[in-house]
Amino acid sequence: MTILITGGAGFIGSHCCVTFLEAGHDVVVLDNLTNANSESIERLKEITGRNIIFEHADIRDQDALELILRQHRCEAVIHFAGLKAVGESTQAPLLYYDNNVAGTVRLLSAMDNCGVRDLVFSSSATVYGDPKFLPLTEEHPLSAVNPYGRSKLIIEEMLRDLSASDPKWRFAILRYFNPVGAHESGLIGEDPLGIPNNLMPFIAQVATGRRENLSIFGNDYDTHDGTGVRDYIHVTDLVDGHLRAYEALKTRRKGDGCFAVNLGTGTGYSVLDMVRAFERASNKKIEYEFAPRRFGDVAACFAETSLAERIIGWKAQKGLDAMCRDTWNWVCKNPNGFSQPAE
Ligand code: NAD
Ligand code: UD1
Repeated sequence: MTILITGGAGFIGSHCCVTFLEAGHDVVVLDNLTNANSESIERLKEITGRNIIFEHADIRDQDALELILRQHRCEAVIHFAGLKAVGESTQAPLLYYDNNVAGTVRLLSAMDNCGVRDLVFSSSATVYGDPKFLPLTEEHPLSAVNPYGRSKLIIEEMLRDLSASDPKWRFAILRYFNPVGAHESGLIGEDPLGIPNNLMPFIAQVATGRRENLSIFGNDYDTHDGTGVRDYIHVTDLVDGHLRAYEALKTRRKGDGCFAVNLGTGTGYSVLDMVRAFERASNKKIEYEFAPRRFGDVAACFAETSLAERIIGWKAQKGLDAMCRDTWNWVCKNPNGFSQPAE
């Protein structure tokens, strides 16, 4: 089976390629490289010993998409391509609606014209807005608090509308909590441009000495130690969830083909828990200071995971120590990300 993986050169998409290749599928990666380095594709070949077709293209280019889907006889799409910086989305909302929403419209139109009707979509826990209760179940009301989140919510609604309009479509909507970690080879991992916004890559850069200290945004939250609590999930567990979701999708009955599940571990850890776990994994001191709360942050966010277990037969396996160990292995081998060769 040939699967098109949009955004497959990026952090989560590259790990997903490994999982699908190891499961015996053929993979075509489509990426415009706005937030990725083509070196990740070379590393994928090294990890899997398999050939990977790479198409340097944009999901907003419907003609290119149709050509690629037809040429490689793709039978399903795993759709990671999108912009994901919350702050940037508030500064440039049209960019986010164009890239994420209009891009997905073009992708679905191309799929329709080519008779490809199965898609796994990267959504986010951000579609729950400010949690009204915890753990977050899939029934929690949906809302958006920034243009990035709204782009995910609009796409989710679009997929539900499309599925209701015609039973030939089958969609798995996967709501990620906080993906971290890296492939255990240390050959692929998260390579943020500039100063990382997210906690784990920032801590990792403090550990390698690339940044002086971590600013902890808020120590007066109503949590066990006052710092923000999140549901961190190992990226290899996360992509395993995509394979399970894809397999579940193929067995769905017509007219029952759209489901949304949380991909998290169900356990919340605070910023200070993460600092201590990373210190254990790296044997380095993580210097930090407390800073004011970050605008838009919530105190705590973690998943209820039983629906994923029931619908796709998936449960996260790896704990916090493995997440920190594999992140540390990746940054040690690639202190400058993909821009210099791995040791
Ligand atoms: P990433 O930036 O590493 O990967 C996204 C990839 O998509 C990049 O390689 C980028 O070059 C590509 N891309 C962007 N716009 C494109 C376009 N118009 N055409 C073709 N390629 C394009 O991000 P990631 O962390 O791997 O995230 C993958 C997906 O998961 C995204 O949709 C993101 O919104 C979603 N998600 C990520 C997180 C997270 O914390 N990493 C959490 C929830 C959801
Ligand atoms: C952020 C995004 C969210 C997105 C998610 C995954 C915001 C407001 N939210 O969420 O929309 O879905 O990333 O990409 O940007 N922290 C620090 N210091 C830092 C960085 C983070 O203390 O330098 C804290 C945060 O306050 C938070 C926790 O670490 O409590 C995790 O932060 P982060 O990794 O950015 O993830 P989210 O806040 O869940």
